[in-house]
Amino acid sequence: MPAAGSQLSLPFLFRRVRVLRGGALLLLGLAGAGAAHAALELYRERASPYDLALTGRLAGVPAGEKRYAHWADLRALPTTKLRLSGEFVKGEQELTVVFLSDLWAALPRAAGADTLLATCGIDGYASVYRESFMAACRPFVVLEINGQGPEKWPPPGLDYNPGPYVISISATLAPAVAQLIDPGHKKPWGVTELELANFAERYRGSFSGRWAALSARAEAGREIWINSCASCHRGPAGTFGGTKSDRPFEVLAAHAGYNAAYFKKYVRDPQGVIAGAKMEAHPHYTDAQLDALIAFITAEPKASP
Ligand code: HEC
Repeated sequence: MPAAGSQLSLPFLFRRVRVLRGGALLLLGLAGAGAAHAALELYRERASPYDLALTGRLAGVPAGEKRYAHWADLRALPTTKLRLSGEFVKGEQELTVVFLSDLWAALPRAAGADTLLATCGIDGYASVYRESFMAACRPFVVLEINGQGPEKWPPPGLDYNPGPYVISISATLAPAVAQLIDPGHKKPWGVTELELANFAERYRGSFSGRWAALSARAEAGREIWINSCASCHRGPAGTFGGTKSDRPFEVLAAHAGYNAAYFKKYVRDPQGVIAGAKMEAHPHYTDAQLDALIAFITAEPKASP
């Protein structure tokens, strides 16, 4: 695994963004579509850097323990070949993928599991996939690029390694993807671990206490927060979030509450405010979306009747 220091450099972030811009996509064929899902074999010990770690609500696994799935067992699940242009390398390429919903179906899920949290062990980046999102946007895990698995990555022409696992989505496969404000936050690479989570439990802090009865725009802001900002930031009262940013939520709340103009400028263009800022820019956010985020972060209450 590369040294963490080099991975946290600025180019790393730009690289992450680059993968996010996918080209045109063609579905080549469904292998095993409709076939009964075999249960995925899980192992107690890591056997290879290409194992996928699994945690959370796994049936028959004590809370807090990890299990590992082998790449070859994932490859044996129902897979699909997608033909894309420019997704990882220049020109046409063929990806062998397993839809997250098929992986989900093959996992030994314990009661209450309704969400997958994908995290990157190198930089703490996280993406959240609720069951409804898996159905509507059809995210997929990339197992091969042009027939080659992660032990052969990066493929020729790519100057960083997207492995061991990279998840992606495409508007060509699922039109709902075109409605997302930040599709990029659903396309993490360097994914090493999936948690089978209960959404209400992991995000409780964003729905209770001061965040229990929010204004309508604060509720809209909460959706943006959970699907975008939480890739790198923990939320209120211990709510789940990535650990790429170590800024406490209270610091963000202070900015949002006392200096909305600074907050907006920063979120749209962090590098323009602080040279070398590690945060991803969100230049496409409208004032209404940023106001919604501020309303959520500052817990704007629902007007009393
Ligand atoms: C790719 C990771 C990432 C994402 C996504 C992200 N942030 Fe950040 N954010 C950071 C990091 C890292 C910092 C700490 C400053 C730095 O090193 O750039 C930060 C800092 C900030 C700050 C400034 C805090 C300060 O002390 O000045 C604000 C405000 C902020 N983020 C808000 C947001 C909001 C709102 C979103 C969602 C729209 C968001 N961030 C999404 C990584 C991210």
